[in-house]
Amino acid sequence: MDNVNANIEKVLSQKIFKPNRDFAKLARIKNMCEYEDLCYNADSDYEKFWGDLAREKISWFHPFNKVLNTENAPFYKWFEGGKLNVSYQCIDRHLKEKKNKVAIIFEGEMGDYKVVTYRKLYTEVNKTANLLKNHFDIRKGDRVVLYMPMIPEVAIVMLACARIGAIHSVVFGGFSPEALRDRIQDAEAKLVVTADGAFRKGKPYMLKPAVDKALENNSCPSVKKVLIVERNGEDIEYVRGRDFSYNEMIAHERSIFEPEPMDSEDPLFLLYTSGSTGKPKGVQHSSAGYILHAQLTMEWVFDIKDSDNYWCTADVGWITGHTYLIYGPLACGATTLIYEGTLAYPNYGRWWQMIEEYKIDKFYTSPTAIRMLYSHAEHEPRNYDLSSLKVLGTVGEPINPTAWKWFYEEIGGGRCSIVDTWWQTETGGNMITPLPGATPIKPGCATLPLPGIIAEVLHEDGSRVENGEQGLLCITKPWPSMIRNIWGDSERYIESYFSQVKRDGMPIYFSGDGAIIDEKGYITITGRTDDVVNVSGHRIGTAEIESAITKHESVAESACVSKLDPITGESLFAYIVLHENVPRSMGEELEIMKEINGILSKEIGNIAKLGAALFVPGLPKTRSGKIMRRILKSIARGEEVKQDISTLEDPSIVEKIVKIVTNV
Ligand code: WTA
Repeated sequence: MDNVNANIEKVLSQKIFKPNRDFAKLARIKNMCEYEDLCYNADSDYEKFWGDLAREKISWFHPFNKVLNTENAPFYKWFEGGKLNVSYQCIDRHLKEKKNKVAIIFEGEMGDYKVVTYRKLYTEVNKTANLLKNHFDIRKGDRVVLYMPMIPEVAIVMLACARIGAIHSVVFGGFSPEALRDRIQDAEAKLVVTADGAFRKGKPYMLKPAVDKALENNSCPSVKKVLIVERNGEDIEYVRGRDFSYNEMIAHERSIFEPEPMDSEDPLFLLYTSGSTGKPKGVQHSSAGYILHAQLTMEWVFDIKDSDNYWCTADVGWITGHTYLIYGPLACGATTLIYEGTLAYPNYGRWWQMIEEYKIDKFYTSPTAIRMLYSHAEHEPRNYDLSSLKVLGTVGEPINPTAWKWFYEEIGGGRCSIVDTWWQTETGGNMITPLPGATPIKPGCATLPLPGIIAEVLHEDGSRVENGEQGLLCITKPWPSMIRNIWGDSERYIESYFSQVKRDGMPIYFSGDGAIIDEKGYITITGRTDDVVNVSGHRIGTAEIESAITKHESVAESACVSKLDPITGESLFAYIVLHENVPRSMGEELEIMKEINGILSKEIGNIAKLGAALFVPGLPKTRSGKIMRRILKSIARGEEVKQDISTLEDPSIVEKIVKIVTNV
């Protein structure tokens, strides 16, 4: 494992901040005793703990008869025999008391605004479910790909799928047509729902042309039709017999659609994410376990209250956008804000202005966004009234203590708890995080696992590391919202998560992250131990990057690692070996770099741009041909190479690369 870097050392030495007392008095979990009681209950009877919560929180159509089935581990089953519908959980059950409450506030980047009450959400979701079923033949178990901007319709379509029992797969709008095509093909989707486009940085941008491209040459034969929401009004082509306008069709649909009774374990959605090898994997989530944890963590971690205005800035194309923009808040009957655009339009005060205007109580965002706002307009927040804020959340990547302090003081006015939430696409919801009314907080540290989540820092043999030592962050008991499978690839599911760490022969879920645990049980995340790079909180597999780079005709091979970046946390650093006959000059290399970035944005999307690249004569490989990425990572980060290089096929290559780096 890598050495603990300077940032982690800083985190470990931070002083502790206590929760605000006035806030704690009214919080659901008010102090550490209450937290410990919950942990104790989970420890003493794990199944009873989760069973009781599931009975209390979910409006079941039919009760479950078994809490946890481990017979076919690691294919765990939760709440077997139970029937529910997630759209019912998120909408219908609130109608009696909250039909006129605002479910969604939408703000467009150009300042347009819309509110959707729970009653309206109910009718729109029902109409959409009718539309999907009657005109597009979408049935239980069918896959529907959404390639959409941040508009209320994205939530409406997701919930309509849930109502029918269809499985949605939202693809982030920043992904390229090729990346979209891969995901459509893997899921064998029947329908793609998209939009003409939306607004970003003050201008319209387009989505529909990317769908056309993805479907070109009948490359996705499973897709029969495309449904288009009109948002920015730009001209788009409609392919006759294939493309249909949502806005025109929806008016004709009935507003009643009986929710399909779903088994607890029926998949709710797929969400593709990058792993260390191969193509992105379709992480498959269940219905009951997922929604239980989404709702529960909104209550525990955000202490969501009926009067709260809640804002999560994540894009719906990522897991945070699923759990904490849509499913979690709606399952709680809360008011969630969907904002279409960027944080810097028309200026760096946009978010603060929105917090002031909507009197946001709970605000959830990413460390990259915080660092951008801090570095571009440190004092801008002072121009706004942010006194409504009570809880601030961060997610997706480590937050450095400097950014943490700015967030705490400038945005939170020194009175809000910061919940630094560690979790993953695969975990479905928050796993390790402070509780805002209870946990003493250490800047940059995710602190303690939630009650019922058994997180441990282990060696590969399943034994615990000593306090203060770095190890593998594992979840040693199954939990309700865990990934159920990788779509269509059970072997990869086991290989990805349950093959590296075993205890007494039993497979244990390994997250892919390293961590350090201290004597109080506080867990500090040290970052991925595999070949996944976290750029602005977006997971990017280096294998995908390398395979795209080698599509360039001049490239013989490449290796991509992460480099630290003051804003995006990490950035992509590629070592590129050119074919021997390629002419080399500064100009030529620059040209190749440009072309490689072009290939990356075509194959993956603009999020995959290289932060830096280096042309090298060769790569450090073991005698069996394995590239020693760890050495390359140390070099990219400017660290001394401490790994043993004597086992390399050609140890001198390391020195050559170091020389090139120091000369750049
Ligand atoms: C990283 C995002 C440090 C981690 C919800 C994890 C974090 C990956 C934190 C999952 C945090 C997430 N502190 N690192 N609070 N939260 N990560 O699947 O490396 O997009 O494995 O899910 O982000 O990214 P994913």
